[in-house]
Amino acid sequence: MKIALVGATGLVGSVMRKVLEERGFCNCEFIPAASERSVGKEVSFAGRSCKVVSVADAIAARPDFAIFSAGSSASLLYAPQFAEVGTTVIDNSSAWRGYEHIPLVVPEINIDAVSPADRIIANPNCSTIQMVLALAPLHWKYKIHRLVISTYQSVTGTGMKAVTQLNAERAGQPCEKVYPYVIDLNVLPHGGSFEANGYTSEEMKLVNETRKILSDNKIMITATVVRVPVFGGHSEAVNVEFENEYDLAEVRRLLEEMPGIIVQDTPEANLYPMPRFAKDRDEVFVGRLRRDESQPKTLNMWIVADNLRKGAATNAIQIMQKLIEKRGL
Ligand code: A2P
Repeated sequence: MKIALVGATGLVGSVMRKVLEERGFCNCEFIPAASERSVGKEVSFAGRSCKVVSVADAIAARPDFAIFSAGSSASLLYAPQFAEVGTTVIDNSSAWRGYEHIPLVVPEINIDAVSPADRIIANPNCSTIQMVLALAPLHWKYKIHRLVISTYQSVTGTGMKAVTQLNAERAGQPCEKVYPYVIDLNVLPHGGSFEANGYTSEEMKLVNETRKILSDNKIMITATVVRVPVFGGHSEAVNVEFENEYDLAEVRRLLEEMPGIIVQDTPEANLYPMPRFAKDRDEVFVGRLRRDESQPKTLNMWIVADNLRKGAATNAIQIMQKLIEKRGL
């Protein structure tokens, strides 16, 4: 098995290397690629040191899979070139997610959206992945009518430079700013870029990607994305209005039965999900399950996951594992 990793030197890239090692790919032919700036540098993988190559060289190697986490412009340019030589691309950027013919996949929910001929597969946005994993079993049972989402997103979702900014601000050192304001001891109601409708690109990803993954364009969705000075993962308060009446005990059971979900919901023992404890975990943690007493058929929940793991690297590598299984590779 030959696997290229485009963006191997980045923050998500480093977690992808770790997750590949954990999931039994230590013996694959590993091809780390990054921008021209990094060609010749070394990255570690499975106890060995591997030289970073250019994306052109990675394409020339005709890998079975290319996992991308190098930003949208690199994905737009290079993913079709990999596809051309027969490589299956799993792309962590937003470049391809909106195209109708490109599957947008959370394996526990819709791996069947991938057909044998597909060569570009989109990995959803980090906050979308953790939310839909918790919502899918509830949608299948009670049908979601409307979602009101507020997120509390880790700086790790913005990449290495954002982590450096927060660390430098904490230490009182000067640094390059990736956010328009100080992030330490602050919250920014601003994730991504502002769009014409007043929402941010990160908010619109939650709207559009959720509908696509759950195959239901009728779900009404509104979101506020907030960046918080946290490293461990993204948290989300989600208000879910169903079309059908639900039972709280059954909701809990459906969530407990969903692969990849851990229910942490014992308020009397102060047990609820938190990003500090979700860090480095592959699971999505759900708690604070309670009825919205202001209107019928409506549930409040709190969802937390490590955005670099299930929100990025783990989900992408799970897609690859499922395809290896399905395609008999
Ligand atoms: P490089 O380290 O050479 O800049 P992060 O999200 O942590 O900022 O990481 C982004 C990753 O994407 C890095 O590995 C970076 O490589 C890579 N990258 C950025 N632009 C390109 C490009 N045009 N072609 C290939 N890799 C790129």
